[in-house]
Amino acid sequence: MEIIKIDTSKTSEAIAASEISALSQAAVDANKLLHNKQGKGNDFLGWVNLPSSITTAELAEIDRVAKSLRGKAEVVVAVGIGGSYLGAKAVLEAMSNSFPQLVKKESDPVVVFAGENLSEDYTCELLDALKNYSFAVIVISKSGTTTEPAIAFRVLRAEVEKRYGKKEAAERIVAITDAKRGALKKLATDEGYDTFVIPDDVGGRFSVLTPVGLLPLAVAGVNVAELVRGAQDMEKATADGVSFEKNPSMQYAAARNALYNKGYKIEILASYEPKLQYIAEWWKQLYGESEGKEGKGIFPASVTLTADLHSMGQYIQEGERTLFETVISVAKPKNKVVVEKDADDLDGLNFLAGKRIGEINHMAELGVTIAHVDGGVPNIRIEIPEINEYYIGALLYFFEKACGISGYILGVNPFDQPGVEAYKKNMFALLDKPGYEKESAEIRKRL
Ligand code: PA5
Repeated sequence: MEIIKIDTSKTSEAIAASEISALSQAAVDANKLLHNKQGKGNDFLGWVNLPSSITTAELAEIDRVAKSLRGKAEVVVAVGIGGSYLGAKAVLEAMSNSFPQLVKKESDPVVVFAGENLSEDYTCELLDALKNYSFAVIVISKSGTTTEPAIAFRVLRAEVEKRYGKKEAAERIVAITDAKRGALKKLATDEGYDTFVIPDDVGGRFSVLTPVGLLPLAVAGVNVAELVRGAQDMEKATADGVSFEKNPSMQYAAARNALYNKGYKIEILASYEPKLQYIAEWWKQLYGESEGKEGKGIFPASVTLTADLHSMGQYIQEGERTLFETVISVAKPKNKVVVEKDADDLDGLNFLAGKRIGEINHMAELGVTIAHVDGGVPNIRIEIPEINEYYIGALLYFFEKACGISGYILGVNPFDQPGVEAYKKNMFALLDKPGYEKESAEIRKRL
């Protein structure tokens, strides 16, 4: 049985099926390059066989540390940015009740995030909130030098040490970082923090299935073994040697590149389940940072429907025709809510009486898809059977694999991000970082 179903038939008014199949060989070749490590950025391909290489000992160690933090803390702050943040946030949102503040299980600590912004108010409000709870910190940074998480960690570490003393603080801080290099590694070793390694050959945005994602998720009570199992099965389903017709990652990569080549430069990832909103945020980083370079790349955007039909729907239906839409479609809701018959029927909705809300949502999805296709927005549909750890794990790996293939079809190195440095140089110059004196003088003239 297919884990993920992909349907590209609703791109046919924009591109011929032959335009997708014309890229099938490029997709097969790209997948091969990911496996034989002969393509661009080949020192960052550790994620390709990562799911199948996760050992039970590694999962047991994650479980041990997660249990220790769960036993000590009502709140666990995960500090990180970009790939060191979005994967955990995405899966946590997908797996959590939509109203966590109202239905929290006593045994599960609340996992919150920091270090993904430089907002003074956010930091202050976090410190204030922590005053009322026992807490612990997971600091995640591969380089160990990224400014945003480094500042947040400096503040939070001081707070843990002030509250619990240095010895107990070392039991409440876990570091996830590079094996050898970096300031965070040295600090973790000096202070005796529990430490997990981000493999050298796994870049941040491909690291959700390493402890970067797995530890915060395990702390929150997510079944990470199932997440990994889903990813393992998708690793098999998209392996080198699986034909184009059977490999959903290749089909998705080929379809989006065929659309791009025809002038569809913006891809909107849409979902009808609000819990998947952060999956889209994770996806935006994955594709934006991997493909947006050398003056090329599809711009990744996202909407949550039907909510955004009442904000972005007009543009999608009738705005500039450079958009295509990829829908993550969930076949089956977990719960059942039926619309009741109303004696007065003032809202005129009795025609829906007896129907499940999920059925109405599904009809909305089908109706919107056809409306958008009619409006000139080609549609790719990715269907998962339901939202659970297994299928989310599969979905994450599906997108990662498709991203590597898609980047190679586009002709870029999907595993670097040289453009991210430009803002850092200006910020450091404006903050008078030693060594940036010349840049400081130059940028100040431009303010
Ligand atoms: O995908 C990437 O490489 C980036 O988004 C990084 O994850 C992000 O910049 C954070 O880097 P670090 O983990 O070194 O702090």
